[in-house]
Amino acid sequence: MEFNHLFHRCVPVITIDGPTASGKGTVAQLVAAHLGFHFLDSGALYRLAGLAAQRYHVDKDDVTALVWLIDSIHISFRKSCVQLDGVDVSTEMRHEAISKLASSIAVHAPVRVALLARQHAFRKPPGLVADGRDMGTVIFTDAVLKVFLTASVQNRAQRRYKQLIHKGFPAKIEKILYDLLERDVRDANRASAPLKPALDARLLDTSTMSISEAVNHVVVWYQQIKPYASIEKK
Ligand code: DC
Repeated sequence: MEFNHLFHRCVPVITIDGPTASGKGTVAQLVAAHLGFHFLDSGALYRLAGLAAQRYHVDKDDVTALVWLIDSIHISFRKSCVQLDGVDVSTEMRHEAISKLASSIAVHAPVRVALLARQHAFRKPPGLVADGRDMGTVIFTDAVLKVFLTASVQNRAQRRYKQLIHKGFPAKIEKILYDLLERDVRDANRASAPLKPALDARLLDTSTMSISEAVNHVVVWYQQIKPYASIEKK
């Protein structure tokens, strides 16, 4: 048990936190692919919990039922296919209504605790890149590199608008901007694990940066910390 715990702690973790549509998901995924590391999209777990609550008619504030639900559902991530209780929900979980629901249930501390073990399970050799809101502050406090990604709110709204249109979802920029600000305020002001940079996080403003520039920044930072990181490349 003790050995397993120590072994687990030796697996390097890079955390990439930030607000909605800051680009952290894409950047984290590409950094993970570059280093041959595992990837955790912790927001997906909150979305799946929200989706399950909607599907099984559990109220967003019924904490006891939410925790029971989270403990009971079966989740699987395979490449770009995400399944909830055996059903592919990869598209449905990205709907704006589910984004809002995920943010609403995420305010409850017991919900966050119920998702803890599922997040820690992603920490496997050779390493992990984890993206979310509290990866560096709560979930992986011993991460070797903590990044906090930001971008202007206009920039983030534009990005989300393009993503939604690209996926064929209806979208209005004013509504996106409003929802985004509402979600930022809720995520940053909740009592439990609010969105904020860890004290030891490096800030990266991607407002005027391409995705590959942002990825490069993170990879270079990691290589500076870990000189032998390049030999971990696939
Ligand atoms: O990253 P995302 O937009 O998919 O996340 C959806 C919501 O889930 C987000 O608004 C707040 C919540 N969340 C959280 O509270 N903590 C995380 N580590 C990740 C997401």
